[in-house]
Amino acid sequence: MATSAARLIALPPCDHVPRPYTGPSKQEVLALRRQYCHPSIFLYYRDPLMLVEGHLQYLFDETGRRYLDFFAGIATVACGHSHPRLVAQVQAQAATLQHATTIYLHPGVTLLARRIADKMPAGLEVTYFVNSGSEANDLAVLMARCYTGNNDVIAVRSGYHGGSSSAMALTSHHTWKFPAQSNLGVHHTVNPDPYRSPFDGTPEQIASQSAADIRDLIRYSTPGKVAAFIAEPIQGVGGITCGAPNYLAEAYDIVRAHGGLCIADEVQTGFGRTGEHFWGFQRSGVVPDIVTMAKGIGNGVPLAAVTTRREIAEALTQRIHFNTFGGNPVSMAAGLAVLDIIEEEGLQQNAREMGSRLRAGLQDLMARHRLVGDVRGMGLMLGVELVRDRATKEPASQETLAVWEAARELGLLIGKGGLDGNVLRIQPPLCINPADVDFALEVLDEAVGRVEG
Ligand SMILES: Cc1ncc(COP(=O)(O)O)c(C=O)c1O
Repeated sequence: MATSAARLIALPPCDHVPRPYTGPSKQEVLALRRQYCHPSIFLYYRDPLMLVEGHLQYLFDETGRRYLDFFAGIATVACGHSHPRLVAQVQAQAATLQHATTIYLHPGVTLLARRIADKMPAGLEVTYFVNSGSEANDLAVLMARCYTGNNDVIAVRSGYHGGSSSAMALTSHHTWKFPAQSNLGVHHTVNPDPYRSPFDGTPEQIASQSAADIRDLIRYSTPGKVAAFIAEPIQGVGGITCGAPNYLAEAYDIVRAHGGLCIADEVQTGFGRTGEHFWGFQRSGVVPDIVTMAKGIGNGVPLAAVTTRREIAEALTQRIHFNTFGGNPVSMAAGLAVLDIIEEEGLQQNAREMGSRLRAGLQDLMARHRLVGDVRGMGLMLGVELVRDRATKEPASQETLAVWEAARELGLLIGKGGLDGNVLRIQPPLCINPADVDFALEVLDEAVGRVEG
């Protein structure tokens, strides 16, 4: 790996002036964090980044240095950081009634549930609000088990569904799993992504063969009946992987033939991120039985939800189920603001347009840099897989770290993922503009070039 002299690339113009930062120094914050925060919460970057202000697609550190954010707080800040409209609605709600639980009536929870139902295919109309994606997936699986009377759940290899002990069981990455899970009966099926598939053929043939693995898994590893199949329409943490659109359609048919419900984990793909559709599952023309969502739904306010059909939801009424913060009025105000902003600012369409500009640029990068083995994804959910050799596909994990560090030095924040940590994840706020895309491409070109030497 070679490094070359620093080259500055000008950030796109922005007239937001950050407030002077007057809080504790970065060194103090780091020392306090090391002393008092749990050691398992990890930091990005060799020289950790302290962020003290955000404005739409831009973030500012304590010195006032601006960064273009192409990771959006891990695919969360859909509308942009501190979006003025969302801030105003959240502030107004916090000043009026900050907390009230669902044991009392409040309009927020019902209004947001109705707005989500309006975005769903017919039939998916009742919503349970929680606070995180892990909770949403936990609840979805519980509902599926109660409704079907079956226990086994099929998840997809390389998927990420959360870090609570039951969601961790669904997650399929050794790096995110601890030897302490409590959820028996979860089985992981072959990933349909063609880039690293054990099967040969066209992406569609690979998708069919991967879906057929579900049938085998059910027949070999379960009583022949399952509670659910859970899949991200495009895997985020897994490295922006997905099968051809026929995968989910065929997988859903097989699962339903064995008594199971189909859960779409839309935590990263929902709320217009894929550009073509509001929900990731729409790419496959399927209708899930349960949809889980988090991240983008609250633009950073802790908010998540599970939407399903009434008869499935009824299965949860056999006992008491309660979530103290689920349906919180402030979170509901945030969720309503998010939907308004996405619609009024045309953010889904922007994700489609900026996504295709970005993807074309990344493909061009692949043509010029041998390190880039694959470019994939949809809309503003894109992945760039780095390999040492295009034939063997040996993961270029160290090189990925170096590119990611170099991008930060140059003013661009991106994510990384994949089982071997060799996929650059590009998931910006949906409000980026063409100048942002061009800046990001220039930075990535420079960063990959530096690492290639
Ligand atoms: C697809 C997916 N599902 C679920 C989760 C878990 O969400 P949370 O971290 O809010 O529990 C994540 C988090 O990254 C995710 O990417």
